[in-house]
This record gives sequence, structure tokens and C-alpha cells, in this order.
Amino acid sequence: MYNDNVIEHFLNPRNAGYIPDPDGIGLQGDPSCGDYLRIYIKVKKNRIADIKFEIYGCPAAIATSSALTELAKGKTIEEALKITDADIITFLGGIPDPKVHCSNLGAGALQLAIQDYQDRIAFKNNK
Ligand code: FES
Repeated sequence: MYNDNVIEHFLNPRNAGYIPDPDGIGLQGDPSCGDYLRIYIKVKKNRIADIKFEIYGCPAAIATSSALTELAKGKTIEEALKITDADIITFLGGIPDPKVHCSNLGAGALQLAIQDYQDRIAFKNNK
């Protein structure tokens, strides 16, 4: 059902865990299955310097979250905001159709983490 790349990311997820002092956190859930993903980011010089994730989810959600962190690391904020579900699926070489919705968690959670980062900056600047 899953290709070798997806299975490899599922068995050895990259960047799993959390960042104790993150610059942004994004939490995205999938109401259809109850799974959820939390993304932590550290930003330096407008780039995603570090990114980690915690997940409660299926193998596809774990693999796509792992892929997302690889795609996002080192990217500028603007580039990271452009990462789509399709980019994640392409990076993994495809996932089975019934599992495509699982990739939504990654892109959505990253966008929320970046939003949180931008909100924190705006809050600091308005103090
Ligand atoms: Fe819920 Fe995959 S089945 S994220």
C-alpha cells in the first residue's frame, strides 16, 4: 500500500520531538479521524532554523509530517508558507489516495506555527 520512501519515513521519522523554547507552535487536527499534529519552529534570520513535530496519527500522517520537516528546514518564512500538501506527497513519491488527506495536517500545522511566530513578533513590536 505504501511505497518504500513512505515506510522509511514512518519507521525513522525525521525531526520527531519538541523544541523547548520555540518561536512558533502550530496545532492542526483532522476532525475526520481525530488525529493531530503539533509543529514547533525556531526561526533565525527569517529562516526555519529548526523544526520538530509531535503527532498522534496514522503511518501516513507520521511519514508526511517527517517529510514536511525536511522540506521546511532551512527555508525562508515566505518559502515555507508556500509548501503544499502536493509538495509533501511529491517529496515522498506518492501516497495512496485514501491517505492523501493525512498530508493536510503537515502543511496546515506549519502555516499555523508561522502565524504564531509572526503574531509573537507583532506583539513584541507593539509593546
Ligand atoms: Fe488520520 Fe491519517 S487517518 S491523519
